Amino acid sequence: MPSLSGDDGGALLRWFGASKRDLPWRRTQDPYAIWVSEIMLQQTQVATVIPYWWRWMERFPTVDVLASADEQDVLSFWQGLGYYRRCRLLLDGARWVVEHGMPTTAEGWLQVPGIGKYTAGAIASIAYGCPAPLVDGNVERVYARLTGDGAANNELKDAAWRWAGKNLFRERPGDWNQALMELGATVCKPIAPDCKQCPLMQQCVAFQSWRVNELPAKPKKVQTVQLRHTVWVPIFGERFGLRQIEPGQWWEGMWEFPRILSDGNLDSPELREIVGPGWRESVGLVRHSVTHHRIAIDVSFVRCESASDRLRWVSRHELDALPMPAPQRKILKLVLAQLGV
Ligand code: ADE
Ligand code: SF4
Repeated sequence: MPSLSGDDGGALLRWFGASKRDLPWRRTQDPYAIWVSEIMLQQTQVATVIPYWWRWMERFPTVDVLASADEQDVLSFWQGLGYYRRCRLLLDGARWVVEHGMPTTAEGWLQVPGIGKYTAGAIASIAYGCPAPLVDGNVERVYARLTGDGAANNELKDAAWRWAGKNLFRERPGDWNQALMELGATVCKPIAPDCKQCPLMQQCVAFQSWRVNELPAKPKKVQTVQLRHTVWVPIFGERFGLRQIEPGQWWEGMWEFPRILSDGNLDSPELREIVGPGWRESVGLVRHSVTHHRIAIDVSFVRCESASDRLRWVSRHELDALPMPAPQRKILKLVLAQLGV
């Protein structure tokens, strides 16, 4: 895999020195000011951010001023930037920093609420000159084209981080990281990159092999997994029988009606053993989606002849207070409707 060693690194830095945009946060070394800019720049374009950044820095010039400000006041200075979670996290982070002190390394910044790998790398390298790499969407694209890596999704992300760590220009990490982002933002654009203006053209695998338009690979849709479960809702008198979900399973520690993976067969010796003797009636199908799983659940209730000691028996009222997975709540609702309760 080609690296950016030797003269090519110099070429990128020379290009950056000559072509970089004059942005207000590039005229300061103040970590707080750079922090604010990096948070604002996430999911918002540079041109939009500039006036917001000025107004913010005028009103909250230091991390102490921000930390002691009222949340509503702070939010009003974010008004129009969108993704207000970023603003709340910035305020949380400021309060953390006032209490614990301003970190000076990427690892230190990672401890601050709301700061992830990217932001930690950006502040540490740009404000402190730490040799910390970073990858954002721009760097990911530059990496994929430069090296011809056809990976997608997390595989691409991981490879880009490894590459960024290996190729970091350690003498000037802040300029280096910004140069890569700048190249992605202004030259190696998503559509119709200006390869003829690119300082890395000579060694760019995508350019040399006519694959610029194929890279980076399109994100792949995660395959959805279809699952079928059978659930029995045991009833004895006025009580419902539940069991606790075992450690290591999804929803561990929560409570559920006995459930097995099934092939659509409603009867199951395994469930019969847990629930004990009784009369089973099929109720219907419950569907539930979680992450990339689609679960279809065949639901029955069982009028039990006795209270199986493998279950915890609770009243309708107690059920409401038990932590239960969302699909189990749906199942309960369906059964109660069927019973006319
Ligand atoms: N995008 C976000 N932060 C940036 C920076 N410091 N330089 C270039 N592009 C960026
Ligand atoms: Fe991107 Fe083109 Fe430069 Fe390759 S040559 S890094 S595709 S701008």
